[in-house]
Amino acid sequence: MKADPSPRPKILILVSGEGSNLQALIEASRERDYPADIVAVGSNQAKAPALAKAAHANIPTFVIEHGRYGSRDEFDGALMQEIRRHNPDLIVLAGFMRILTEGFVRALRGQLLNIHPSLLPKYTGLNTHQRALNAGDKLHGVSVHFVTEELDGGPIVAQAQIAVGADDSAETLAQKVQAQEHVLYPIVVRWCCEGRVQLGAEQVLFDGQALHQPLVLPAN
Ligand code: GRF
Repeated sequence: MKADPSPRPKILILVSGEGSNLQALIEASRERDYPADIVAVGSNQAKAPALAKAAHANIPTFVIEHGRYGSRDEFDGALMQEIRRHNPDLIVLAGFMRILTEGFVRALRGQLLNIHPSLLPKYTGLNTHQRALNAGDKLHGVSVHFVTEELDGGPIVAQAQIAVGADDSAETLAQKVQAQEHVLYPIVVRWCCEGRVQLGAEQVLFDGQALHQPLVLPAN
């Protein structure tokens, strides 16, 4: 058989919870023209429902339970070993609820993507929907960014906005934001796998040009 001159990019997805973003990525990756394969799904939570979604899609899974390791370094070392075994081109954090060590993040610079439920740089960390409500924001949303040493602070590739209505609660905002996550994440992952999006020295590059502002899917 002829050797494939351009092997398809390999994605490894890390999860801790429900896996609705994982499911969106699985469905996107099944589209005929999607430019990548999901080669493995890993979790720090053995009971994460996301693992069942991966198994249902016949994607290999692994679990590295953080409670079994004495330090973040040891946990990250075990995670890195498993990642290296699968040799992915891109590692996609999809609701992965562990803070990664600086060394880990530096070693994978430009290969780690995260999705965060706010219009960064607003509201890093938790409870983003309630904080947007408390601030009286009219626009809220989701960001996809490269992971760097700064928590939720790496260069942003793209955002999707939602309008905040007078009747919205943290729960309704969470639902609206998640619906946008499921649209945005597969698009950005596609761009990365096509080589259109890369992490430059300080900024995101889109088609080789520095991106001065994140790309935005506006609220309708
Ligand atoms: C998403 O809201 C994402 O923004 C955040 O964690 C959540 C994961 O949800 N980082 P799911 O597990 O993909 O359903």
